[in-house]
Formats: sequence, structure tokens, C-alpha cells
Amino acid sequence: MFLFTNIFGNSVLALIGAMTCLYYLVKYTWKLLFGIRIYILSKFWKIDLTYFGEWAVVTGATNGIGKAYAHELARRGLNIVLISRSLEKLKTTADEIGRKQNDFQREQKHGKKTKIIQADFTAGTDIYGPIQDVLNDMNIGILVNNVGKIYDIHACCFLDVPDIKKAVTDIIYCNALSVPMMTAVVLPQMVERKKGVIINISSEAGAFPFPMLTMYSATKVFIDFFSRALNVEYKSQGIITQCVMPLFVSTHLTHDMDTNLLVRQADDYVQEALNTVGITDQTRGCISHALQHWFIDSLFPGRYRLSQFGLNVMKKLTEKGKTWLEKQKKKSKIN
Ligand SMILES: NC(=O)c1ccc[n+]([C@@H]2O[C@H](COP(=O)([O-])OP(=O)(O)OC[C@H]3O[C@@H](n4cnc5c(N)ncnc54)[C@H](OP(=O)(O)O)[C@@H]3O)[C@@H](O)[C@H]2O)c1
Repeated sequence: MFLFTNIFGNSVLALIGAMTCLYYLVKYTWKLLFGIRIYILSKFWKIDLTYFGEWAVVTGATNGIGKAYAHELARRGLNIVLISRSLEKLKTTADEIGRKQNDFQREQKHGKKTKIIQADFTAGTDIYGPIQDVLNDMNIGILVNNVGKIYDIHACCFLDVPDIKKAVTDIIYCNALSVPMMTAVVLPQMVERKKGVIINISSEAGAFPFPMLTMYSATKVFIDFFSRALNVEYKSQGIITQCVMPLFVSTHLTHDMDTNLLVRQADDYVQEALNTVGITDQTRGCISHALQHWFIDSLFPGRYRLSQFGLNVMKKLTEKGKTWLEKQKKKSKIN
């Protein structure tokens, strides 16, 4: 009787072990294959974005990731509506996109039509009426909700942000409110034509709560939830909504950090991220950022990140960042 129980027990344990191994094997093989499809095969197997309409609208289009989206979408055949605060930068970017490709200089000039709209997304809801007036009569195929800001100073705890009440409204208006409001402006015409793409730029800071970047992180998770739920609501009507969650990309926002395998150059990043449209509703944008996300998630689970230990690490990183920034400023003064 004892022998029978022992053999039976061992067989059950072996079966549970085998099933567990099989579960993880299937799960990670599927993830690997899906990752290859998203980040590698998408380069050769991407959708024609001109199918969705004649124009793409990009918010925060005069620097960094937004400017890279504007250029890349123009390169892929779309006319571009650029929205930002500075009229001068808008004109310069529109001029670059509008000029014809020069074979000798290999610059990013695409000979596409442009329209500029000057607007400050921290200004609240009043800006959307005039934006709607311009966009209503245009055939908008793609909307890139890119505009975003962090605290005007370095990362810090909530009450250490200067003029915290203004910072709160600015960040919510710019990062969060702009996304559903611009969607409300453009989505009706997309639904009418039964096609469209909405790309919303969130951040790795939206994947987990980030102490010291509390407001930024909270607005970025809003974008992720909004995007994925919207995608389910309108996918059957031909509208693709994608949430992009980058890690470090070298732009003004990240003080033009040096680029390397981890920190991507904006143009390269956007080229890869755009290839993933229609393949996944949520993406880190490129393979390097996908792997970094996986490492962070595996090595530093939430209980470490959201602890006094995690906060101390963030404080140390911020101090290092400040020292690096000071050095950069001194260097640029000498040069
Ligand atoms: N860079 C990164 O490592 C990184 C990582 C994760 C997520 N992201 C996200 O990616 C997006 C773009 O970031 P970025 O790094 O490219 O930023 P960036 O280089 O600072 O560019 C920001 C763009 O937005 C415009 N802008 C800023 N505030 C505005 C406002 N209140 N109203 C209208 N336009 C405004 C700026 O032009 P004007 O100054 O002329 O208005 C500029 O064109 C943001 O949503 C950011 O959160 C960036």
C-alpha cells in the first residue's frame, strides 16, 4: 500500500513538473516568436500607411521623437500637419519636410505638403476648437499623439517640484488630456471612412509607477490604458490604435544623451517603431528597448522598485544625472 502511494505520488509530481515545463516552454517560445515578428520581420513585412489617408497629424512635431515621426511619415508618403508651440520651429520643420529629396546630400527631405498649427497643450481645452476647424476638412489617416513633458527641473519628490499646482495641471493637460482630446477631434472622420491609425506615445515610466517622476508616470499609464481599450472599441471599424512605450531616446527631453545600444537615436527609433503598426497594440518600439524592459521587469520586480530601496536608487540616479548634466553644460560653454 505504501509502495503504491509512493509510486502514484511520484508520477503525479512528475506529471506536474512536465506540465509546468511545457507551459513555460510554450509561453516563452510564443513570446520569442512574437518578438521576432514585431521587431525583426516587421522590417520586411510592414503595412502601407498611405492606405489610411492623405494626411498625418503629429503633436509636438518640432523636436525629438515627434519630429522623427513627422519626417518618417512624410518619407512613407503622407502629408503632415505639425502642431507645437514655437512658430519658428514649426516653419523650419515644415520647410525641411516640404523640400524635394536631394540625392547628393541624402537629407531627409520628402517633397510632401505640410500644414502648421501653433498651439500650447498646457493651455487647457480651449485649443481644440481651432484645431478641429483646421482638421475637419482634411483627410486625416494617421494621428500621432506625441507631445509630452516632464517636470521643468530634474526628477524629484512631489512637493519638491517648484509651483507644484501649475506643474500638475501642465503635465496633465499636456501629457494626458491632449491624447483623448485630439482623438475626439480626428476619430469621427476616421470612423466615417472606416480606416485610420492612432499612435500614442507613452513611456516605460507608464509600465510601472516611477517614484520621483510621479506625475509623468501617472499620465503615461493613462495613455497606455486609454490606447489599448480604444483599440478594442474601434478595431472592428478599421481603426488601429497603438501605444508606444520607449525607454531612453536621445532628445531635448533627455538632454541629448549620447546614443548607444541602449539609448536610441530618434530617427532610427521611429523607423523601427512605425514598422510595428498593425502588428501590436502595445510596443517598446525597438528590440533594444523591448529587451531592456524585460530585464528591468525580471530583475527588479515591483516590490523592489516601490520600496524605500527603490526610492534611494532613484535618488542616487538623479544625483548622478545632475552631475552629468553640469559637466555637459561646462563642456558646451568651453566649446
Ligand atoms: N526621449 C525619451 O527618452 C522618451 C522616453 C519615453 C517617452 N518619451 C515621450 O516621447 C514624447 C516626445 O518626447 P521627446 O523626447 O521627443 O521630447 P522633446 O525632444 O522635448 O520634444 C517635445 C516636442 O513637443 C513640443 N512641445 C513641448 N511642450 C509643448 C506644449 N506645451 N505644447 C505644444 N507642443 C509642445 C516641442 O516643441 P515646442 O517647444 O516648439 O512646443 C517639441 O516639438 C513625449 O511624450 C515623451 O514623454 C520620450
